[in-house]
Amino acid sequence: MDISNLNRSTDLRHLAVIMDGNGRWARKRGLKRLAGHQQGAEAVIRMVDECPRYGIRFLTLFAFSSENWGRPEQEVRTLMDLLMAFLSSQRQKMLENGVRLKVIGDRSRLSADVQQALEDVEVATAERDRLVLTLALSYGGRNEIVRAVREIAGEVAAGSLPPEKIDGALIESHLDTHGLPAPDLLVRTSGEMRISNFLLWQLAYSELYFTETLWPDFDANELGRAVDEYCSRQRRFGLTEEQLLDAKDSMQKERHN
Ligand code: IPE
Ligand code: IPE
Ligand code: MG
Repeated sequence: MDISNLNRSTDLRHLAVIMDGNGRWARKRGLKRLAGHQQGAEAVIRMVDECPRYGIRFLTLFAFSSENWGRPEQEVRTLMDLLMAFLSSQRQKMLENGVRLKVIGDRSRLSADVQQALEDVEVATAERDRLVLTLALSYGGRNEIVRAVREIAGEVAAGSLPPEKIDGALIESHLDTHGLPAPDLLVRTSGEMRISNFLLWQLAYSELYFTETLWPDFDANELGRAVDEYCSRQRRFGLTEEQLLDAKDSMQKERHN
């Protein structure tokens, strides 16, 4: 990637990533899956450093899905240990670099230790605003919607919410991601072309980018390629190209007036 492209401004504010391929990365090298997850954690650290260069303000990473609880106990333990290590090794750096940690997912399934460590870093970094790093942990898009619907139904049943007040904005306010803009770009590594229950509501109009690169190999150059691809897309949100050009025109005119 051309160095002159660094620090340029794009309208890519929110990048979401399905970090996949750690196991295959390890297998290709004759290593245990643990080694792949360790390198995957290094790739996370790289992304947190790189994203602000592109003007990305929100980075949301799928780290552990509601379905991943079904993996062998040993692997689940390894992933949780790596998460704890990540939190303690990155805490100070996050504070220094203006990174705020946020967590989405069903926290109640995480162990008390993990919940405590997450909350500690969330509280400590709550005022940071250069980059919001959201970790999706014990996260499933369907589960998130189920929890939101339960809350909304509870308010309707209690008589505090008339059903006609339920709209998209209200539903969003009950999702774990409330307060975050929808992702502009979703990247999935390792060649799989599926969403795997990630951000089902929020991805409605995100651009999708799939790469064969395995997550532990995802680096600054790979991010640059994804950003370039994003910049070459035209997001139409259901409108015609002419409407978009007209809107751009009048925005420019307004700026000149
Ligand atoms: C992604 O890598 C990490 C998690 C899902 C936690 P995988 O562990 O899914 O790696 P593959 O898909 O087996 O290669
Ligand atoms: C998706 O990866 C979940 C995470 C990256 C945390 P998986 O490896 O679990 O997804 P599937 O099973 O291939 O769909
Ligand atoms: Mg996988």
